[in-house]
Amino acid sequence: MIDLHSHILPGIDDGAESLAQSVALARIYIGAGFRQVVATPHHVPGSRLEPSPQAVELHVLTLNQVLGDQGLGLTVLPGMEIALDPIILPLLDAGRLLTLAGSRTLLVETPFQQLPVSWERIIQAIVSRGYRVLMAHPERCAQVADRPELAGALVQAGAGLQVNWASFAGHHGRACARTVRSLLARGLVHCLATDSHDPDDRHAGKVPALAAELAGLAGSANLALMTMENPSRVLRDEPLLAPTSVVFPAEQPRRWWTLFRA
Ligand SMILES: [Fe+2]
Repeated sequence: MIDLHSHILPGIDDGAESLAQSVALARIYIGAGFRQVVATPHHVPGSRLEPSPQAVELHVLTLNQVLGDQGLGLTVLPGMEIALDPIILPLLDAGRLLTLAGSRTLLVETPFQQLPVSWERIIQAIVSRGYRVLMAHPERCAQVADRPELAGALVQAGAGLQVNWASFAGHHGRACARTVRSLLARGLVHCLATDSHDPDDRHAGKVPALAAELAGLAGSANLALMTMENPSRVLRDEPLLAPTSVVFPAEQPRRWWTLFRA
């Protein structure tokens, strides 16, 4: 598998705090079946989280050297998770942003509360420059949770959608997990990623079990599309394929006497 969203680089954002943590995350990735990971440190214009492309590339080079020295079979590629803001456009034009692994796709962070009023114009302006947009974790946006049809509008505007495994697992709460199911049911989850931050919490370790669970719901071909085919399409600059809508089994109403069971 390829992970398109990871905070594996040490000391550059709120992800891995040290090289030792980065190596620990790499070991977890390898154990979970990943061979390529795109490092996507936060890029929030006007904040301390505004790394230059050169800084990210240098971190990637150093980490790959360390992983190679330790005989670990994981390749880290450069990228960024870029806050959705109109300033993306001049920054992009000035060459101050990194796409995912040198492709034409930008990983754009969906805000946690609501999309900026100009979101559609921003996405269309990025696309009109010949780039593609992959929206990171739309399911974590309160506005999308309230109105899942907004996710369809993002796709209509030209974006692909990347959902976090942790959200599918319920790590970010019930509303978020419900939104993931809604997006899967609408066939709007183009790919899944770990958004790994540290080796003790959000990481790739649970992905094999979660993938088996999702395969049971979505089918193995659909799972392969979301976890392997579409991520590799991003790296090859090929258009994302739409997954098949996932049909969830109807939830059985609980019988009154089961309420008294532990
Ligand atoms: Fe992230």
